[in-house]
Amino acid sequence: MTDVLARLAAMQAGDLPAHGGRTLAYVYDSGLAEVDRVGREAVAAYAGSNGLDPTAFPSLLQMENDLVGFAARLLEAPDTVVGSVTSGGTESVLLAVQTARDAHPEVTAPTMVIASSAHSAFRKAAHYFGVRAVEVPCGADLRADATAMAAAIDDSTVLVVASAPSYAHGVVDPVTEIAAAAAAAGVRCHVDACIGGWVLPYATRIGRRVAPWTFAVDGVTSISLDLHKYGYAPKGTSLLLHRTPALRRPQFFASADWPGYTMLNSTMQSTRSGGPTAGAWAVVQSIGDAGYEKLAREVFEATDRIVSGIAEVPGLRVLTRPDSTLVTIVTDTSCDPFTVCDEMAERGWYVQPQLTYGDLPANIHLSISAATLAHVDDFLAAIAASVEVAVASGPVQLDPGVAAYVAGLDPVSLSEEDFDGLLAAAGLLGGGDLALPTRMADINALLDVASPALREAVLLAFLDRLSRPSTNF
Ligand SMILES: Cc1ncc(COP(=O)(O)O)c(C=O)c1O
Repeated sequence: MTDVLARLAAMQAGDLPAHGGRTLAYVYDSGLAEVDRVGREAVAAYAGSNGLDPTAFPSLLQMENDLVGFAARLLEAPDTVVGSVTSGGTESVLLAVQTARDAHPEVTAPTMVIASSAHSAFRKAAHYFGVRAVEVPCGADLRADATAMAAAIDDSTVLVVASAPSYAHGVVDPVTEIAAAAAAAGVRCHVDACIGGWVLPYATRIGRRVAPWTFAVDGVTSISLDLHKYGYAPKGTSLLLHRTPALRRPQFFASADWPGYTMLNSTMQSTRSGGPTAGAWAVVQSIGDAGYEKLAREVFEATDRIVSGIAEVPGLRVLTRPDSTLVTIVTDTSCDPFTVCDEMAERGWYVQPQLTYGDLPANIHLSISAATLAHVDDFLAAIAASVEVAVASGPVQLDPGVAAYVAGLDPVSLSEEDFDGLLAAAGLLGGGDLALPTRMADINALLDVASPALREAVLLAFLDRLSRPSTNF
């Protein structure tokens, strides 16, 4: 048995570290080892419990209500607020959209108004639920354009969406204006605070200026916020809160018309592991309100120091001043951002490349954690050194013929053989084997000249070829 755990540890050594404050996307680290231990033990203790039936596992119901109650205070919610634990930000967003759609069965071709900066979980919801996303370009400040969003609302609109903040640029949308426009049209307004929801309330408390975005804003009908991001809880928990039980009602599903148990579900899952809920409850209990305020001071100090440090590195600047703990770094033409990402990986830092989008250049995303504070000087030294290497090695040389060929490809016309060829040419697959490249700059440069539709098609083809059954397990 210990051998099995040793093998797991050996496999995990090839993954990005979830702790240490040097992985600046995907994971969030409080730096509190004891809290992490308690969270892990709570997950383990409840791994086999089933949130499907609150009468069978009442402790999970208690924990869910405790977590929603804690969040309600953070979100300045009225007494009428209700909420559910979900498996993550995407499930919370999916449910917000499904609930808005099902509240309006009379709307035969429902739409939702989203800013171009809205998280793609909304595009996924559109895809799953047949709610067409009406995408409104952001303003020059990268925030949702409230006037244009208001103008996009019509009789088919069942939901209007704002972000607090957006993932790609870390800015908070003008929620007051957006929610007012939604309310005036009698439409729901969802605030996606998946990434900001557990940290922005403390930002306000410690005196930072953040535009209003909580239930204190008239017209906001639901808010999503993730415990597994800045709640620093183990993966697998988010919350979706609605202003009233009536607004939440279409989220629920019941089925009694079959020979088995009456299925009653508040979220998309039916059987639902108690592990994540217990892990989140244990972490929130352990950190507590004062603890989160301290972590917020730390993560904002790290963010501020990184933002001012970036300004000192020739060739780099931040795209916009972040409202939250997310930073978007752009490079000047002398420096390839994808090479910087690879060089940072060589130095033990994971930073996330974001590809060109419309007029916005390719850039580098950071989701900063409280645990990053102890390593800010190292981060700044690493990025300065990475930029030096990137400048010295010059821009990634993409053959102009290849670039023109890729830019002109229509993904719809490509066969599986074409995808095999493209993946091999990109260096993503070699000889039919699972070969994960360590340096990504050339691949990202190629993807960067492709249309979003081609990027999606090529990367889905890649994902398809990655996920094939093992033959030796
Ligand atoms: C604003 C926002 N919404 C939704 C999501 C989706 O969350 P998850 O990855 O937990 O499904 C994210 C993830 O980063 C996010 O930043």
